Parts: sequence; C-alpha cells; structure tokens
Amino acid sequence: MSGLKVLSVVSEIYPLVKTGGLADVAGALPAALAPHNVEMRTLIPGYPAVMAALETAEPVYHFDHLFGGPGRLLAARAAGLDLFVIDAAHLYDRPGGPYAGPDGLDWPDNAQRFAALGAVASGIGLGLVPGFVPEVVQAHDWQAGLAPAYLHYSGGRRPGTVVTVHNIAFQGKFAPELAPTLGFPPEAMSIHGIEYYGTLGYLKAALKLSDRITTVSPTYAGEILQPEAGMGLEGLLNDREHVVHGILNGLDEAAWNPAADTLIPAPFDLKRIKARDANKAALQAAFGLEPNPETLVFGVVSRLSWQKGLDLLADSLGTILELGAQLVLLGSGDADLAARFAGAAEVNPGRIGVRLGYDEAVAHLIQAGSDALVVPSRFEPCGLTQLSALRYGALPVVARVGGLADTVIDVNEVARTAGVGTGVQFSPVTVPALQLALRRTHQLWQDQKLWKKLQRNAMTTDVSWDRAARDYATLFRDLVAERNA
Ligand code: ADP
Ligand code: GLC
Repeated sequence: MSGLKVLSVVSEIYPLVKTGGLADVAGALPAALAPHNVEMRTLIPGYPAVMAALETAEPVYHFDHLFGGPGRLLAARAAGLDLFVIDAAHLYDRPGGPYAGPDGLDWPDNAQRFAALGAVASGIGLGLVPGFVPEVVQAHDWQAGLAPAYLHYSGGRRPGTVVTVHNIAFQGKFAPELAPTLGFPPEAMSIHGIEYYGTLGYLKAALKLSDRITTVSPTYAGEILQPEAGMGLEGLLNDREHVVHGILNGLDEAAWNPAADTLIPAPFDLKRIKARDANKAALQAAFGLEPNPETLVFGVVSRLSWQKGLDLLADSLGTILELGAQLVLLGSGDADLAARFAGAAEVNPGRIGVRLGYDEAVAHLIQAGSDALVVPSRFEPCGLTQLSALRYGALPVVARVGGLADTVIDVNEVARTAGVGTGVQFSPVTVPALQLALRRTHQLWQDQKLWKKLQRNAMTTDVSWDRAARDYATLFRDLVAERNA
C-alpha cells in the first residue's frame, strides 16, 4: 500500500498559532494519520508567529499577484510539522490574531486573506509543487472553504475534496460584489456554487462543492441536519446527507499527558493518583482559594462566548456557594461575561477564582487540580477540554449536546451499577438543569469511594486519535478509489 498524499488546509495550527480546538486538531492529525499510511502536509497562512517558528523553509513557488500583492509558497518544517506556508506580507504580516486585529475587530480584508488560502490550496491540488501532488484536499472550516470551490471550477483533473466542519456557527459570509475579483467563473455565483442568500458564502461553497463533508462528532453530524444547530445550512446538508460523516476528535496525548506534564507541579497517573492532591493545593493557592482538600473544586477552561453557555454558569454561582464548593475559571472572550465572573470573584474571595486571558499553563493546572470540569455548552461540535478532563481525572459535568454527548458517560443509576460512569450530563441546557447537575456532582463527591472509581473510569477512557485516524484514512481512501473508478 503506498502512502496517500493529503493536503490539510487550515487557518491555525498548534503549537504555532491557536485560538481554539481547530488548531489542536490540525496539529495532531498529521502524526495520527502517519501510521495509517497517510502522508499529510498542512497549508497555512504565514502570520508572524508562523514565520518566526519555521525551522527550515524553502521557496517552491512565486506568485506575482496574490490578491493585492506578490507572495511566495514555502515548503517548511516547524515543531515536527510538514508545512506549506503562504508568505505574503500584504495579507498576513500584521500584529493581532489570525482573524482580527489587536482591537478585536475582524480584518476588513478577510475575504481576500482566506480566498488566497483556498486559491493556493487549489493550486497545490492541481500540481503546483511537483514533489507533493495530493490525492485529497481536506479543507477545515470556512477559512479554507474556497479550496474545494476553486478545485471544482478548475476544470482540470483534480484531487478528491473533503470539508471538515469544526463549527457551523462561523460561516464566512462576504459582500457579493467581491465575487468577480476572486477569480471564479460567473456561473459560480449561484445557488449551486458560492452564492449564499445574496452573499458570498465560503463555508456554504465548501458544503455544496466538496466530495465529502465531515464534522467532529457523530452527534453533531446529526444535529446540524436540524434547524436549531444547522444555522441556515441544514437544508443543503439534508440534500447531501449521504456524504456527511461524523468523526470524533481525539486528544493530543503528547500535549496532554498527566504523567509527563511539565506545566503542573505534580505529574501523576492512575498509580500515583494521590499526587493529584498537590496539584489541587497549588490550584487553590494560585487562585487565592481556601486551601481545603475536602472542598469540591469546579473548574472551567473556555472561550467566553454564547456557544459555551457560561452565562448559565454565571447564573448558577449561588448553587456552587450553597454547596460549599469552589470555582476556578480561566477564560477569554466576551467582555460582559468576563466582567460578571471577575465581579463574582471579587465579592467571593476564597471561594471563586477567575483568571481572564489565554494561558496554557493555567489550563493544565485546572485540568490537573480541579475535581470536576464544567462545560455547559449550548452546542459543541466536539469539545476538547472534556477529553483532557477525562485524561486528567477531573470529572466532566457537561451539557448533553454534540461531542459532549459522545464522550462522557453519565453516572445514572444503571451506569453506576454497571460501574461505567465517567461524569455528569445534563439536558436541556438551562439554568435549572445545570444547577441540578452541580448538585448531583456534589452528591457523588460525598461518596469518595465511588468518586475514585469514577475518576479511574475517566482516566482510562480511550481519548486517543486511533479510532478517528482510522476513520479518516478509510474515508480518504474510499474517496480516491471512487474518483479513480
Ligand atoms: P473551542 O475550539 O470551541 O474553543 P475546544 O474545547 O474544542 O473548544 O478547544 C478549546 C481549546 O482551547 C482547548 O485546547 C483548551 O484547553 C484551550 N483553551 C480554551 N480557552 C483557553 C484559555 N483561556 N487559556 C488557555 N487555553 C484555552
Ligand atoms: C471548534 C468547536 C469545538 C471542537 C473544535 C475542534 O472550535 O467549537 O467543539 O472541539 O472545533 O474540532
């Protein structure tokens, strides 16, 4: 069996540039797929953080005009990743994040910045770099959404195309007037192409024109066929249901390994679970909480956004206080939510601790030291923090949606008797249901023997990439076979 060449196209990749789980997945997939004989390379924009991280870089193509200026395509390596990098200063060399400036506002030329990503991906797909001609192009989220569209309209012999949806709430919609400047034929601007309710729709284009659609959990794959979660795209998805697949993400087990974690004071594993106590003490100290090992500590590591349902948790702080429990929260995002949590910490010192911003080390300390990790998402395509929580023995308390439903086994009566529970699920995603879940968690905490058993179950849950990597490899190979038939 020869290695299957796949080009992964993505706007962020761990450890070079990350705003969320998308980067984690893009960073972990190539190594996960290698044992399945898939040779994956990743195309990524050359933001300053990416350019600075490159260990080797060789120019393999020169563009005279790449959406407003010249550019180069680099074949590069960084942090163990095989990359293609678009070095185009006019598009990517600026301070701030991958999508927004330091003021938090989206870059006004995001349409061009990510059209370039799609166009270059298409070029590579059509043979721009003779040493790596992919048989499949995998486009992640709307930022890469035009890659399958450019390939579709290229008219040439093209590779198979897959779009992977990490979050359907972000659709990449732009002014229709831009269409003629993007290099598509006029007929592309229709309901059968890149047009989406009068706008240009980058994700819509990918969903319409890719050979396969994947999303990051089986439950989310079902949910996005319904209006509530489909967010306007459910009609199109229902038409193409036969090519929609839900493949559950894994966890990057090298980055999240409690036995060898250099970001926590006391590494631990199943045999040394007692060492967790030292992490809990360090966590309580770091957040100025009362240093009591017997107090149940709830943890949160999250973007602060409507998706994540943390307003429901803000409405439930009274329950946490009544139970005599503590809360530590690390979050960045929505300013109003941030202010609510910061205010609660201020009036409840010793009980509620809040850290605003993005901090990898604190995220690890919360996973290693809290007793239960709360994820009350309104929707969650997969979710990665509950996977780290399982591996680190912080019992996940999660809304029963998307990937959260697929990865946590609720400790209901039957699960308890069978000895298989790993956490607490609640539904519907409302304040009363969340409060009940917090109370149920506290009740479980009262039975420390049971709690230890649940912790062991959690820590032995298979959160690896093995299953998913096999599924992706099969999907890629089936697609290639179909196109060669
Ligand atoms: P999403 O991608 O929707 O934000 P995921 O659960 O898939 O949600 O992935 C979130 C990733 O970002 C995880 O790796 C998590 O540890 C990390 N993360 C989220 N918020 C923070 C933060 N404030 N500081 C550090 N890491 C964070
Ligand atoms: C998105 C989703 C999250 C998922 C991640 C990686 O950011 O919000 O649920 O885990 O992508 O697929």
